[in-house]
Amino acid sequence: MLGGSLLLSGAAALFSATTISALVPVLDKRQYFPANATGLKTITTPGSNVTIRYKEPGKEGVCETTPGVNSYSGYIDLAPDMHTFFWFFESRNDPANDPITLWLNGGPGSDSLIGLFQELGPCSVTENLTTQVNPYSWSEVSNMLFLSQPFGVGFSYQEEEEGSFNPVTGSFLNATEANATGTYPVINATEIDTTDLAAIAAWHVLQGFLGALPQLDAEIGSNKEFNLWTESYGGHYGPSFFNYFNDQNKLISNGTIPGIKLDFNTLGIGNGIIDEYTQAPHYPEFAVNNTYGIKAVNDTVYNYMKFALNMRGGCLDLVDSCRQARETGQDNIATQTVCSEAQDMCRDNVEGPYYSYSGRGTYDIRHPSQDPTPPEYFADYLNIAEVQNALGVSVNYTESNNDIYYAFQATGDFVYNNFLHDLEDLLAQGLRISLFYGDADYICNWFGGQAVSLAINYTHSEEFAAASYEPFTVDGTEYGEVRQYGNFSFLRIYEAGHEVPYYQPQAALALFNRTLNHWNIADGTEMVTANLTTSGSANATHTESFVPLPTTSSASTSASASASTTGGAMPINWRS
Ligand SMILES: *[C@@H]1O[C@H](CO)[C@@H](O)[C@H](O)[C@H]1NC(C)=O
Ligand SMILES: *[C@@H]1O[C@H](CO)[C@@H](O)[C@H](O)[C@H]1NC(C)=O
Ligand SMILES: *[C@@H]1O[C@H](CO)[C@@H](O)[C@H](O)[C@H]1NC(C)=O
Ligand SMILES: *[C@@H]1O[C@H](CO)[C@@H](O)[C@H](O)[C@H]1NC(C)=O
Ligand SMILES: *[C@@H]1O[C@H](CO)[C@@H](O)[C@H](O)[C@H]1NC(C)=O
Ligand SMILES: *[C@@H]1O[C@H](CO)[C@@H](O)[C@H](O)[C@H]1NC(C)=O
Ligand SMILES: *[C@@H]1O[C@H](CO)[C@@H](O)[C@H](O)[C@H]1NC(C)=O
Ligand SMILES: *[C@@H]1O[C@H](CO)[C@@H](O)[C@H](O)[C@H]1NC(C)=O
Ligand SMILES: *[C@@H]1O[C@H](CO)[C@@H](O)[C@H](O)[C@H]1NC(C)=O
Ligand SMILES: *[C@@H]1O[C@H](CO)[C@@H](O)[C@H](O)[C@H]1NC(C)=O
Ligand SMILES: *[C@@H]1O[C@H](CO)[C@@H](O)[C@H](O)[C@H]1NC(C)=O
Ligand SMILES: *[C@@H]1O[C@H](CO)[C@@H](O)[C@H](O)[C@H]1NC(C)=O
Repeated sequence: MLGGSLLLSGAAALFSATTISALVPVLDKRQYFPANATGLKTITTPGSNVTIRYKEPGKEGVCETTPGVNSYSGYIDLAPDMHTFFWFFESRNDPANDPITLWLNGGPGSDSLIGLFQELGPCSVTENLTTQVNPYSWSEVSNMLFLSQPFGVGFSYQEEEEGSFNPVTGSFLNATEANATGTYPVINATEIDTTDLAAIAAWHVLQGFLGALPQLDAEIGSNKEFNLWTESYGGHYGPSFFNYFNDQNKLISNGTIPGIKLDFNTLGIGNGIIDEYTQAPHYPEFAVNNTYGIKAVNDTVYNYMKFALNMRGGCLDLVDSCRQARETGQDNIATQTVCSEAQDMCRDNVEGPYYSYSGRGTYDIRHPSQDPTPPEYFADYLNIAEVQNALGVSVNYTESNNDIYYAFQATGDFVYNNFLHDLEDLLAQGLRISLFYGDADYICNWFGGQAVSLAINYTHSEEFAAASYEPFTVDGTEYGEVRQYGNFSFLRIYEAGHEVPYYQPQAALALFNRTLNHWNIADGTEMVTANLTTSGSANATHTESFVPLPTTSSASTSASASASTTGGAMPINWRS
């Protein structure tokens, strides 16, 4: 079980920490608490009270060290208790004319610097904690903006306080509860506890940033094509954020509100959880009948998952109750309870048994559950005093904030059904949307992604469904299979786990480049037209060979290790 037992064990750990800390001497603080960053510059967004405090980390050797390519990081301060960390990288190609892309990781409560360092940013961090330039960075073709959101994630904060993170629950502990080991963001997590609320906050942050951008970087104007690419829980963020930004654009156009209109170009979603009702049925199937020939759970467990999915009061039934409660306009505590129960039912009993019994990876079915990839060096790098100073931050780094995860869990945001409809609205008005799924990921598997692509009910859903799968090739190598009709595509990428650009950097950059520049996804040789149609086979049938688990851990020992980490510790986040 992921839900109840997890919270209980967390509370127990917290209680014993409180008792012990009263007895221990005060530690030498200087080694733990970041100094105030020095050398920050401050600018003000015209017509607002928003300030931007920033530094240029590349000039101090942090991350983007390509000569002549500028980068800026620091805070967008919306209010005395709203500080959002940003990191902006100029395109390596043509910053003045290339578009701007916002990259967001998921969670909820996971930081976008995961994507920066592990996936598609200008650098990665090596084992010896130095940065290394990434030749497949998406900044090869676009200016890139990374935001840590909502407050409490990454380096973003409302207030700062000395404390620590409970290693069991991943929640903040203040200095009386446990020995303080750093300075951390302190937030009220219930202020932003749904995707739609996060969208409103993100719009204000973007307005502050884009309004100041001409002062920050004279080479980049603020009137640029705007893309949002995201992953995982970003299957919620992407559709909702764009839909809200679109509504704000309309209000700006007719003079109702002041602001900068976002000139939409594309939306990209990698291994996203978009619609639980559509995706949940694919957990049991993917666990036993995937394209790697892996049968990860036995028939007893498989049948249990299926039963929990379909039984009266089971996953689909409860998700539907949530939908009905929300569609009657009741956005109150009772509705949130129905939706939250649906989430727990689906995650614990349909998705979860794989974590407890398979011994295999959450984000990569080919790997053991204790998956050492992608490496986490970047989180240690971001806790080095010199790096913090170069970035203009004075708090320790929070890769994933579980207080945010729990706050979203309590509203049931996970199983809300509006994200599918947001995509329908966006496609109806001609936005270009690329869905892409690494085919080894379990948590947001491509079976579910494919089902979402076919469940979207828009003007051209019939033509989209009638289009067949064509090989996706880059420099003559086949990396996947794509279905595309006009502006909409679904791409399955071979031999990639959850964080696609980590596993297939070249393929991911080609997908990004082709989508942004209106080329067909399959091979990038034709411009997209309204009725461009892929042709090939009806199903994505490619298979790969079976990958055994490492022999050092028998199936049963790794299965119990898996049960203790996922059942007793962190929630399994849609982290990236
Ligand atoms: C606090 O630090 C002291 C000294 O290192 C240690 O003995 C004690 O166990 C720590 N207390 C907690 C609650 O972690
Ligand atoms: C917090 O950052 C400081 C550097 O400013 C570092 O020395 C300390 O170890 C960090 N704390 C944690 C828990 O990583
Ligand atoms: C940082 O600056 C603030 C005032 O701006 C001050 O209150 C605080 O003590 C300083 N922190 C450190 C670690 O020097
Ligand atoms: C800026 O803050 C001041 C003082 O709180 C307020 O009077 C003013 O309306 C604010 N300006 C904007 C553009 O929000
Ligand atoms: C750090 O790691 C990189 C990449 O593995 C290597 O090229 C470099 O020599 C290492 N530097 C040191 C000081 O060990
Ligand atoms: C992006 O695509 C264009 C057209 O195919 C190509 O000329 C360019 O080299 C690509 N850029 C990268 C970084 O792959
Ligand atoms: C620390 O947290 C505990 C539990 O949430 C709370 O009761 C206490 O007031 C907090 N202490 C401080 C100094 O904020
Ligand atoms: C946290 O935010 C919620 C929602 O805005 C509010 O109802 C609650 O009073 C806040 N809690 C604290 C401790 O400020
Ligand atoms: C502006 O557009 C919005 C949304 O389309 C609409 O609700 C509102 O009535 C319009 N206001 C004016 C003044 O036209
Ligand atoms: C595995 O999936 C394929 C394709 O959907 C299907 O034809 C086959 O019946 C499935 N096999 C089992 C044992 O469920
Ligand atoms: C199936 O797997 C579960 C969990 O490991 C185990 O308890 C059960 O005995 C297995 N059933 C069969 C028939 O092997
Ligand atoms: C698709 O949308 C149309 C128009 O809103 C509606 O009539 C139809 O029932 C929908 N189809 C499905 C399968 O939901």
